[in-house]
Amino acid sequence: MIQYVSVDNIIRLIHDRGIESLITDIANAIEDDFIRWEEFDKQPRIPAHSDRGVIELMPTSDFDTYGFKYVNGHPLNHELGKQTVTGFGVLADMESGYPFFLCEMTILTALRTAAMSALVAKHLARDDSAIMAMIGTGCQAEFQAYAFKALLGIKHLRIYDTDPAAMDKFEKNMESHGFTIERCTDTFEAVKRADIITTCTADKKQAKILTENMIGQGVHINAIGGDAPGKTELEKSILMKSDIFVEYPDQTWIEGEIQQLDKDHPMTEIWRVFDGQTEGRTSKGQITIFDSVGFAIEDFSALRVIQTLTEDNDFSEDINLLALPDNPKNLFGMI
Ligand SMILES: NC(=O)c1ccc[n+]([C@@H]2O[C@H](COP(=O)([O-])OP(=O)(O)OC[C@H]3O[C@@H](n4cnc5c(N)ncnc54)[C@H](O)[C@@H]3O)[C@@H](O)[C@H]2O)c1
Repeated sequence: MIQYVSVDNIIRLIHDRGIESLITDIANAIEDDFIRWEEFDKQPRIPAHSDRGVIELMPTSDFDTYGFKYVNGHPLNHELGKQTVTGFGVLADMESGYPFFLCEMTILTALRTAAMSALVAKHLARDDSAIMAMIGTGCQAEFQAYAFKALLGIKHLRIYDTDPAAMDKFEKNMESHGFTIERCTDTFEAVKRADIITTCTADKKQAKILTENMIGQGVHINAIGGDAPGKTELEKSILMKSDIFVEYPDQTWIEGEIQQLDKDHPMTEIWRVFDGQTEGRTSKGQITIFDSVGFAIEDFSALRVIQTLTEDNDFSEDINLLALPDNPKNLFGMI
């Protein structure tokens, strides 16, 4: 038997604990795991590309527990009435090799991406940050907003999406939850007065969602939508005048905004900031960028949080996924 958390149960868990509290738990777990970065087996995720998107496997282990996520990224899926991102994840015992936890990860990916974004911003954004611009109000957006409220106290949002229906949806989902939301007519308007800019768009191309003339001194950019080869959101000149922070460079060079730069361009691995080796923001005027692509350890941390919270209660169920005969040599005898 393995412990299984379905979509229904993760939704129940979110209602039970509260979304901000759950995001905070996941952010704390990610920070703890990133601080022990060197204990993990790491590799860039393994992609299978098609014209319409990518399917990825994201494995890691701390040599005690192994974890992986299956996730897709298909920006054109909305044309078919389908999601851009879906996924599920597994934890397994390294000693026996037996998987012991299986979990939906479409919602959990949104929670962990938001937790990571806000955790990084806590280290990099100015302390007096109060306004966040959100460019792209699709599936990840509400989760991002809640995470920035939970970890940084950001309640003032300026939003823009090319699809007015996506902004309608965002405003409806977020009304009466303590946010001030200003709907903007374009990205230029949305980023005005913003201390933090989150870009969360989906397009399989080198987009210029933000251009250099939009970026004022002291801004923190949380760039999450550029996360695959040939799929970026920022004009190159913004990267050239900013300090760039990444998860796992070997993966970010392939998938992140920095695929636009020469390989010797300076950047900082964010785990070094979390563990205090390196300073994050060093001045008020500095422009910081989190070039987020999503790394396997974030999924590992999120899976472990959900596994612990749903163990021995009705937020998980046991499923009979592994064929385990009484006599380990008599598999045929089970039939
Ligand atoms: N870095 C990470 O860890 C991570 C995790 C999850 C998703 N992502 C990425 O984040 C992006 C958003 O994911 P999602 O699930 O919210 O996708 P989604 O398709 O639900 O939403 C994307 C939104 O962007 C809008 N958009 C597209 N082009 C735009 C433009 N030029 N200006 C303003 N808005 C624009 C679309 O109308 C849509 O509403 C995707 O690219 C996805 O791959 C990254």
